[in-house]
Amino acid sequence: MFLWGTATAAYQIEGAAREDGRGPSIWDTFAHEPGRTRDGHTGDVACDHYHRWPEDVALMAGLGVNAYRFSIAWPRVLPMGAGEVNRRGLDFYDRLVDALLAEGVQPVPTLFHWDLPQALEERGGWMDRDVSALFAEYAATVAARLADRVPLWITLNEPFVHMAFGYAMGVHAPGRLLMNGALPAAHHQLLGHGLAVQALRAAGAGQVALTNNCTPVWPASAREEDVAAAEAYDILHNRLFNDPVLLGEYPDLSAYTGSLDFVQDGDLKTIAAPLDALGINYYNPTRIAAPTDAGLPFDDAGVTGYPTTAFGWPVVPDGLRELLTGLRARYGAALPPILITENGCSQPDELTENGTVEDEARVDFLDRHIAAMRQAMAEGVDVRGYFVWSLLDNFEWAEGYHQRFGLVHVDFATGRRTPKRSYRWFKEFLERQNP
Ligand code: BGC
Repeated sequence: MFLWGTATAAYQIEGAAREDGRGPSIWDTFAHEPGRTRDGHTGDVACDHYHRWPEDVALMAGLGVNAYRFSIAWPRVLPMGAGEVNRRGLDFYDRLVDALLAEGVQPVPTLFHWDLPQALEERGGWMDRDVSALFAEYAATVAARLADRVPLWITLNEPFVHMAFGYAMGVHAPGRLLMNGALPAAHHQLLGHGLAVQALRAAGAGQVALTNNCTPVWPASAREEDVAAAEAYDILHNRLFNDPVLLGEYPDLSAYTGSLDFVQDGDLKTIAAPLDALGINYYNPTRIAAPTDAGLPFDDAGVTGYPTTAFGWPVVPDGLRELLTGLRARYGAALPPILITENGCSQPDELTENGTVEDEARVDFLDRHIAAMRQAMAEGVDVRGYFVWSLLDNFEWAEGYHQRFGLVHVDFATGRRTPKRSYRWFKEFLERQNP
């Protein structure tokens, strides 16, 4: 069965940040620091999904999706990151899983979507190697409760973005500015993934995947310097996270570091544990030029000549086909089946006077990206699922509530949900897939 779903993440939708024993996460801390998010927005309430989840499950049932990718908040399950388990946190996800199954919607939980327990940040966050083992313990705790009903698990969401935005550039939690010094946070996430795969397998968890955010990288010109810079960027964004998992080795990281002393014997074997699927989040391609100053080995030259989303991101549907066929060409038989675990766009959605949201641009975006995915499948790429980001407008990290990605509009003052035109379009699309 091809999985057609929607995706969300805990901190972006749940709210109830201090309820039922949940511990603080790095995103609670970060969002409450002045100047970190646009207009000081936080996820304290977000979509209030923690209370409104039955309504959200009903929205998915009405939409006709057969899968739902959500994330489990580590600090809800283990308020201190390790040690004492918070039953009420697990109860929440237990109820959600049962409600989804009752509607014929397969739950696809992601164990880590950036909301590290604050207690673990105090000991260094993902810069601390021990956090990898703690992640696996957390995975085992969740699996012990849910593995009997959850057939497919995702360990991490986008370790690249978490490393780059959270540890290198400081624009996401935990807000560190380590630049190239952030590489251990990549390795320890990947190690945590590998150890979590072992824990999930031991718990009989069924299928296991990892979600990477990947981008086709275009050199700004055919000049040798631009081509070399594009290759350096491709290594950082894509290969740093795909090669160890699929091939058991790191790409050449000499443009970023002189030493991989944070990699210990046996780590790569752990990281390369076979996967049942690779999750790919696709938003847009990247165009790279040679650097203009010493520092990073590339400059972002910006993709021009395409329409853009409200975020200013270029809309390039064929980039998804290019990405998928490129992965297939690079990894061959080492590439497991693919799930598109996120694809979508922010648009300047507004409720009209008659209470509708006419998001034609999102309809067009989704329609053309699904067509591009199918083109890649026709060219031989094994894709098993597609999840729209997102079910609901939600807390868009550093952008707060300013970017709306949902099929369903959320009024953040009242929590009121209004399905957009794109919701109705996707519903009709899904009816045509399984007549
Ligand atoms: C993340 C989501 C985010 C989306 C849009 C992805 O990188 O996984 O959490 O909301 O992109 O920025």
